Amino acid sequence: MVKADFGADFQWGVSSAAFQTEGAWDADGKGASIWDTFTKRKGKIRSAHHAQQASDFYNRYPEDLALIKEMYIPNFRFSISWPRILPNGTGKPNSKGLDFYERLVDHCLEKNITPWVTLYHWDLPQTLQEKGGWTNRDVLSWLEEYTARIVGHIGDRVRHWMVLNEPTVFTAAGYFFGVHAPGMTGLPNFFPAAHHAALAMGKIGRLLHSELPDVLVGTTFSCSSIHPASGRQRDIAAAKRADVLINRLFIEPILGMGYPIADLKALTGIEKYMLADDERLLPFDFDFIGIQNYTREVVKHSYFVPYIRARLVPAKRRKVPRVTEMGWEVYPEAIYEMIKKFSDYPNIPKLYITENGTAFPDRITDGSVADHQRVQYLQDHLSQVLRAKQDGLNVHGYFVWTLTDNFEWAEGYHARFGLVHVDFETQQRVVKDSGKWYGAFLAEK
Ligand code: FCB
Repeated sequence: MVKADFGADFQWGVSSAAFQTEGAWDADGKGASIWDTFTKRKGKIRSAHHAQQASDFYNRYPEDLALIKEMYIPNFRFSISWPRILPNGTGKPNSKGLDFYERLVDHCLEKNITPWVTLYHWDLPQTLQEKGGWTNRDVLSWLEEYTARIVGHIGDRVRHWMVLNEPTVFTAAGYFFGVHAPGMTGLPNFFPAAHHAALAMGKIGRLLHSELPDVLVGTTFSCSSIHPASGRQRDIAAAKRADVLINRLFIEPILGMGYPIADLKALTGIEKYMLADDERLLPFDFDFIGIQNYTREVVKHSYFVPYIRARLVPAKRRKVPRVTEMGWEVYPEAIYEMIKKFSDYPNIPKLYITENGTAFPDRITDGSVADHQRVQYLQDHLSQVLRAKQDGLNVHGYFVWTLTDNFEWAEGYHARFGLVHVDFETQQRVVKDSGKWYGAFLAEK
């Protein structure tokens, strides 16, 4: 497998996110985000890790962009920290925060690296959470104001935009299970948060298109292929219900198909939050959709799980041969299956894999990191992407998650996903063997 097999137009990149990398949590007038608050809560993050320094991208971005260049990576996806540019969420902007993103974008362009900007990768300003965060419909106008600020600043230089990162994950983990910020729980929080996230994509997509007619607007979705634990009818039905929640909830209203309530009755409660015009406002004609895949899920019927009557069977319990630091099964066919699933929707725009990667316990030995398991993971997943491409499926790019080791949400610094190793004491970077491999792969003509 060589780069040329994917064709000259295939987009190659690497992805990251502000909260996971920037650090500088209170520097230069930045306000607190829900993640700054959540990381201070007892028992929420493994080993009580926090992201006050993270991988110090705020100060070290020139070094990190140099590494991207060294690896011949042409596209860099990163996100903007909302409270860095609007410390109170709305109102008076923080010019130093805006300047940071301006420098970052300019630095990318000088180095011939194309910036792909995610507007919302989970770090909502804390002041807005105090008004309910995503459960408050006003989040739509807050987001509009924030987007307008960014557009006014870097809109003339950025061509690729993504509205949300993984609405399923931030609404379910953050507003239903309470394992991510802001740590809220239960359906009365999840339903409004989910509906407002769904509306936000179209609303902000339309704003970007009208303000910046030449740009490409996307949004990104998490997805996992779902397999029933057995051939028994009730496991098959449970897998279908899990698929609604894990894969279908947000893409289908965007495509004009409405919420998939018919296949998961427990979702009916979302209708309570729908206003008269919302059905018309949900669909949006994106220029591209980012899909992010790491693994598959195996699902079993369960009477004990309320609403969905299904549970995931953890990889460790299934005794699968390869499990990552996150406890996720290594299952490369999943990425093919997801490209196929999304490609099969009528009128689906271009698909890019905007995240795929893995965490293993890496170690520096004699100045290098021999992460052969990650190299194997990336090669096996790319082979499946190539297979999808050769089958004529709608996939046009691939971004590795992620550039450097960073703060992996509730896992703290335990899960290292980077192509570049970071020593969090000294902030020293060492390109792992996987980074060297990706670089050599991309360097080929
Ligand atoms: C995704 C997130 C990303 C990262 C990877 C491992 O769900 O978008 O920030 O944490 O998982």
